[in-house]
Amino acid sequence: MRTKYFYIHTFGCQMNVHDSEQVAEMLKARGYERAERADTSDVVIVNTCCVREKAEQKAFSMMGRLRRLKRDNPGLILCVVGCMAQQRGRDILKRVPCLDIVVGTHNLHRLPRMISEIERGRKGVTETGFHDSIASMDVVSLPVGRRVTAFVSIMQGCDNFCAYCIVPYVRGREMSRESTDIIKEIETLAVHGVKEVTLLGQNVNSYGKNLAGGQHFPALLERIGVIPGIERIRFTTSHPKDLSDDLIRCFTTIGTLCEHIHLPVQSGSDVILRRMKRGYAAGEYLEKVERLREVCPDISITSDIIVGFPGESDGEFQKTIDLMEKVRFDNTFSFVYSDRPGTAAEGYDKKVKRDVQIERLTVLQSLQARHTEEKNRKMQGAAAEILIEGFSKNDRTDLMGRTRTNTIVNVGGSRDLIGNLEMVKITETYMHSLRGELLAKKEALTC
Ligand code: 5AD
Ligand code: SF4
Repeated sequence: MRTKYFYIHTFGCQMNVHDSEQVAEMLKARGYERAERADTSDVVIVNTCCVREKAEQKAFSMMGRLRRLKRDNPGLILCVVGCMAQQRGRDILKRVPCLDIVVGTHNLHRLPRMISEIERGRKGVTETGFHDSIASMDVVSLPVGRRVTAFVSIMQGCDNFCAYCIVPYVRGREMSRESTDIIKEIETLAVHGVKEVTLLGQNVNSYGKNLAGGQHFPALLERIGVIPGIERIRFTTSHPKDLSDDLIRCFTTIGTLCEHIHLPVQSGSDVILRRMKRGYAAGEYLEKVERLREVCPDISITSDIIVGFPGESDGEFQKTIDLMEKVRFDNTFSFVYSDRPGTAAEGYDKKVKRDVQIERLTVLQSLQARHTEEKNRKMQGAAAEILIEGFSKNDRTDLMGRTRTNTIVNVGGSRDLIGNLEMVKITETYMHSLRGELLAKKEALTC
């Protein structure tokens, strides 16, 4: 029988990237092979995001392109999965009738079976129910080739209902995975050569809330910290209101936990934070940053910030800038606020005009660029440990690794170093990456 190919395009966050890896794993188990292009595939899957309006627009324009592909090849099976599929369900089928399958966030494990049904002649299938457990969370996506890093989902959904956010509506209520399953998955990954795991959840700090036996995030980290072969642990995302002293202490007690935390602040104004329903004030956020830096002075702190939230005046925006000056984030992801259907903020008054939003975003991003550049420049001449992940994106003759603080370092070296922890000396610094040269093992030991 002819080999069948599938192509997946992923929009959005690391969580979506991981979901796509799991979908790929399930299809490979059914004999499909992954293709690099949509136009040579038998099945095309678009994994969507609807957290911000822009991501949704991009997914719709991709579906428009796929519609033309299907016209030329009517046997092509088109699937839309993920957050947007969850939120819009059958409406997507109405808007893009040539789609064969629409599957929401809790039903990804059903996709292979649904594809078989379409192959047998069934028309337009939609699955968008929510369940008490999510079967696809337990699909282990094994590393392809010599990949040394992997994502591991530890929980799904969110109970926080921040006023602007659609996640609780499209990913469902918060649900943690049993720690024994997580540990088993990481042990399997380690056996297959994975050296670094990134634990994924919308709010990892509240891991274990729905589980029996007092399972909590610091305890989970401690167990992962002793898994043989796992040299580095990362996690994302942390909610500032739930960042406990116990978790902060993990940065000193667990040797393999990397010195980086993504801690979305969203705004520096207390008025806006209240309207956002974030559950902390700017002062409390700053105290947590201070505590993190007390126990771990070199920790890298990154954040998400929304500008132009309804009711944000120039003065309130300035408070965000002031907070950025105080914290000096290593990096931030910043967004203009967009209304999301069904959220509290959609009904708020005092919406900020688009041109004001864009102006504020530009100011904020140029300040961040300055801070990131300054931080990177301080690395000039320093020694750093990197995990070599593979070839550099820009120059395939170079290798690419990351520091423990998650900065990319490009370095010359032979391919058999992939998967190694190596010491490098930083020789050049840029906005988004560093350049280094390998230190001989003996030199490295004296650093
Ligand atoms: N508008 C703009 N940005 C948003 N985010 C979430 N919802 C919205 C929205 N409605 C941002 C937040 C969040 C990140 C993943 O996306 O900053 O942390
Ligand atoms: Fe959305 Fe808030 Fe949950 Fe983050 S914590 S996923 S911003 S509701």
